[in-house]
Amino acid sequence: MISWQTVYLDTVDSTNNELKRRADAGAPEGLVVIAGRQTSGRGRQGRSFQSPAGKGLYLSALLRPETVPAEAAALTAWTAVAVCDGIEAACSLRPGIKWTNDLIVNGRKLCGILVEGRTDGQRLRYLAVGIGINVGHAPEDFEPPIRSTAVSLSMALGKPVDSAGLTVHLLQALDRMRADFPARKAEWLSRYRQNCLTVGRRVMLLRGEEMRDAFAEGIGDDFGLIVRYPDGRRETVTSGEVSVRGMLGYV
Ligand code: BTN
Repeated sequence: MISWQTVYLDTVDSTNNELKRRADAGAPEGLVVIAGRQTSGRGRQGRSFQSPAGKGLYLSALLRPETVPAEAAALTAWTAVAVCDGIEAACSLRPGIKWTNDLIVNGRKLCGILVEGRTDGQRLRYLAVGIGINVGHAPEDFEPPIRSTAVSLSMALGKPVDSAGLTVHLLQALDRMRADFPARKAEWLSRYRQNCLTVGRRVMLLRGEEMRDAFAEGIGDDFGLIVRYPDGRRETVTSGEVSVRGMLGYV
């Protein structure tokens, strides 16, 4: 079991940035940085993550698994399953996963995950597992660009949500994930496949400037997305090379 060491900050630029500063200075596995508000919350592919004060759970956890960077890349998908577990345990509501790791409720984005690794040649030094869950937002708390595509737990459940209880369940789920990683990959892959909403849908693949229509057929053995193009050709794409837009709504 990991013994989590939690640091709470009212305001920080980004909990991932703060965690990485402390990890670079030698913090041990199990450090967790939680903030009431982020001034520069970050998402994947250079996007920002809206982090208004007191509305969301903005959390980063430090893991130092004994593994190589190529294997650690899958931890971003494992984290999506673990966060679904934590939310379900706390709120009796299980989100779906939009490949690779956005969590979705009622067709809208509930949570984003940003896992960043620090490597030393072929050695992984650590992973910063960053999780942003929309907890107490009302619709107007989301800025217009995402107002029509985002949702919070309290919006979905129609009642306030206890953020402290959610944090406890989330850390328990991350603990189970860390204990299983990487040995119990088959089980986590199976659960990822069960939770993934992208499979069975038409998607738009964005690769640099290029956009391509495709059909999502499945999840490969390394958590890549197996797609079929209109000409019948198949490919397994990874989250590092493409991002996916749904053809119907956010998913
Ligand atoms: C995404 O939607 O692309 C990922 C968003 C990840 C947001 C979380 S909030 C806690 C941690 N700190 C950050 O700056 N980002 C992650």
